[in-house]
Amino acid sequence: MVSRVIPVDPFDLVIFGATGDLARRKILPGLYRRFVAGQIPETSRIIGSARTEMDDPGFRAFVAEAIAEFIDAKKRDAESITRFLDHLRYVAVDAKGDNGWPELAALIRTDVVQAYYFSVAPSLFGDLAERLHRHGIATPEARIVVEKPFGRDLETAKALNATLAAHFAESQIYRIDHYLGKETVQNLMAVRFANILFEPLWNARHVDHVQITVSETVGVGGRGAYYDKSGAMRDMVQNHLMQLLCLIAMEAPYRFDPDAVRDEKLKVIHALQPVVPEDIVRGQYRAGTRNGGGSYAEDVDHRDSRTESYIALKVDIANWRWKGTPFYLRTGKKLRARASEIAVVFKEVPHSIFGDEEGWRENVLAIRLQPNEGMTLSVMIKEPGPGGMRLTEVPLDMSFAEALGEDGADIPDAYERLIMDVIRGNQTLFMRGDEVEAAWAWTDPIIAAWEARGDRPKGYDPGSSGPEDALMLLHRDGRRWREMRE
Ligand SMILES: NC(=O)c1ccc[n+]([C@@H]2O[C@H](COP(=O)([O-])OP(=O)(O)OC[C@H]3O[C@@H](n4cnc5c(N)ncnc54)[C@H](OP(=O)(O)O)[C@@H]3O)[C@@H](O)[C@H]2O)c1
Repeated sequence: MVSRVIPVDPFDLVIFGATGDLARRKILPGLYRRFVAGQIPETSRIIGSARTEMDDPGFRAFVAEAIAEFIDAKKRDAESITRFLDHLRYVAVDAKGDNGWPELAALIRTDVVQAYYFSVAPSLFGDLAERLHRHGIATPEARIVVEKPFGRDLETAKALNATLAAHFAESQIYRIDHYLGKETVQNLMAVRFANILFEPLWNARHVDHVQITVSETVGVGGRGAYYDKSGAMRDMVQNHLMQLLCLIAMEAPYRFDPDAVRDEKLKVIHALQPVVPEDIVRGQYRAGTRNGGGSYAEDVDHRDSRTESYIALKVDIANWRWKGTPFYLRTGKKLRARASEIAVVFKEVPHSIFGDEEGWRENVLAIRLQPNEGMTLSVMIKEPGPGGMRLTEVPLDMSFAEALGEDGADIPDAYERLIMDVIRGNQTLFMRGDEVEAAWAWTDPIIAAWEARGDRPKGYDPGSSGPEDALMLLHRDGRRWREMRE
């Protein structure tokens, strides 16, 4: 199977925060990969920007190092790197001052697509938007890309939306949730809406429950100060897990169009019920030998921290399709495996003609986001051999890397895909302002309630699958979590 690369229109893409971690690890190497794939037109330019003073050759050397560090040696070569570097420019600007802005204004062309990637701290988003406007740089068609976190609660998200809206129309604002750029996540929509097979079963009559797991093996790393003010609910559930839940739960949009898709996702968020305390388990990792030794409190340097590095929740969606089918979400750090998976667990057959054999008999559609992106449908078959009818579960397994051959191994990274969507002007995989606000409106009271109760997260061992209580969350409903494995 050959994946088609559809070139985009010529563009000027300004990356604010070009010297930062995200630009170095993801954005710039990702653009190189798109260049090698032939997707970047000859006349396009990528303009790096930050306060650090640098000239074009200095920035090119910085990007060449990033490519060497983050692109596999087999996938880069000196000739294409040189040609890619030709597309790069650099202008030093200060988001909080007027340094550099006239130079940037002089550089930007108005007859190509203009995109501005705000890869800086969210506290600078407003300053950048305002200065792009004040210096007459951004055209009415220009696009801005903003990174997460988008606010820390409803109030701050509303304020951020209002700040951006003062200078840009909603159709110009691309709020990144890189989970939405993953191949499997888009495939989820293809599986649901391009096949007749699943839709008749995709409801509370046939689906017993859904599990969404995003587990990491790493701790908070160098992000301790930020993370301790945020926690797993704000950092992961409000955005990534909720987006995945929406894609599983939403109705079919009338067409694959940005607002049609986002309208349907928004309806799901509105239908989410408040979560009662018994349906929430928060955890904090203890000290341990795996993955570095410090406890959460040591890692964030806050002895009495009550922030969760793990959360599991049982979520109900109050609509006709899903009433009675719980969605169990869990995410955390320093867990057993680095794995992201959505599992749609179907109900057992209404009556077994094979007697009352022990064992689980459910079909499960598991969608793996990482590692080894792909899907597995488990089906029951007869255990081979004589000796009567014994059932066993086997997977119909599809890994993208295998199914798509060489192209599967070369699937664009989420950031690559999303940046190309920005240039194309396609907002389908980006969050709309009202979606983000609705997500916070659901999240805020849950957080406020545990803060008011003074709840302390339960301890869990590094390398485990989370606190014991999280197991109980499903056990008491007669269910079990799927194994966390890479
Ligand atoms: N890193 C990740 O993996 C990751 C993942 C998800 C989301 N994000 C989000 O992406 C954004 C960038 O994160 P990051 O990790 O790359 O941060 P970072 O490493 O701290 O980089 C920040 C960038 O902003 C520039 N900057 C700081 N103050 C500035 C100012 N006044 N004017 C202009 N530029 C300024 C810095 O360069 P100078 O010091 O030279 O100005 C640097 O290039 C943040 O919103 C973060 O939440 C990051």
